[in-house]
Amino acid sequence: MAARSIIIDCDPGQDDAVALFLAMSSPEELDILGICTVAGNVPLGLTQRNARMMCDIAGRDDVPVFAGCERPMVLDAITAEYIHGNTGIDGTEVFEPETPLQEQDAVDYIVETLLGAEDDSITLVPTGPLTNVGTAIEREPAVLRKIEAIVLMGGAMREGGNRSPSAEFNMLVDPHAAEIVFGCGRPITAMGLDVTHQVLATRERVARIGALGNPVAEATAGMLSFFHRYDTKKYGSEGAPLHDPCTVAWLLQPELFETRACNIAVETKSKLTMGHTAVDFWHVTDRPHNALWTYGVDAGGFYELLTDRLARFGG
Ligand code: RIB
Ligand code: CA
Repeated sequence: MAARSIIIDCDPGQDDAVALFLAMSSPEELDILGICTVAGNVPLGLTQRNARMMCDIAGRDDVPVFAGCERPMVLDAITAEYIHGNTGIDGTEVFEPETPLQEQDAVDYIVETLLGAEDDSITLVPTGPLTNVGTAIEREPAVLRKIEAIVLMGGAMREGGNRSPSAEFNMLVDPHAAEIVFGCGRPITAMGLDVTHQVLATRERVARIGALGNPVAEATAGMLSFFHRYDTKKYGSEGAPLHDPCTVAWLLQPELFETRACNIAVETKSKLTMGHTAVDFWHVTDRPHNALWTYGVDAGGFYELLTDRLARFGG
């Protein structure tokens, strides 16, 4: 079967970095056309640098990296250094990457690439705020029929918010972009906190990855060890939730997940609940089912997949 063409849009962020590694480990299944970066966990200057670093570590400097929007469509920017550290990828040594930053702006790249593609041929994999994707759709709606699917990390239902009492970070940073994406009419799979909080990077799982002994696994183990500290203290959990790799794992092994078609709407007006995702899981409204909401996962199977694929970087 031909590899699926994907564009990853991310804000590395340790968990974005692991999602990039997982995608780069599987070229026979995923053809990464480009990596786009957006302001999110840390400012754009760092997210683009961090994405390029991951390409170096994975030996994938063949993948073009682009920088996109440095602030949300409407709101002021917020960041998350308190979780990710000042570099955005604390836990691994920072260096100036060889992988170049492309001249072209990420939004222009997304629009140009989609317009030049066959209908239903490219899957977008956003793992940060949706500013780049929302801006591309608003600027050039003709891109929509080119999008095969959107598999995104964001939102929360039963779990409640992680950056505000009612909003998950990616949705809160740019709710206006999220509203555009959820209203775009293309097939969406949403990996929210309800599922990502089930895939905890426990010390045992991180140790298994670290024991693989290749540069990608070492960087992953280092980053997850740092990433571990905040959420385990906040939730009293066994490990930090590995949010973003759930998107790539869905593309590789969808059978690991349980999903339900429903309506997802994003709050863009209320100061109190800005960025809240109203997930109509029980179909109590007649709003159209615009997404698959993911609510279950085989966590052991997820870490088996991740560990097996990271082992591939061992040469
Ligand atoms: O709420 C978790 C999400 O926000 C993850 O994508 C994390 O990387 C941050 O972007
Ligand atoms: Ca992210």
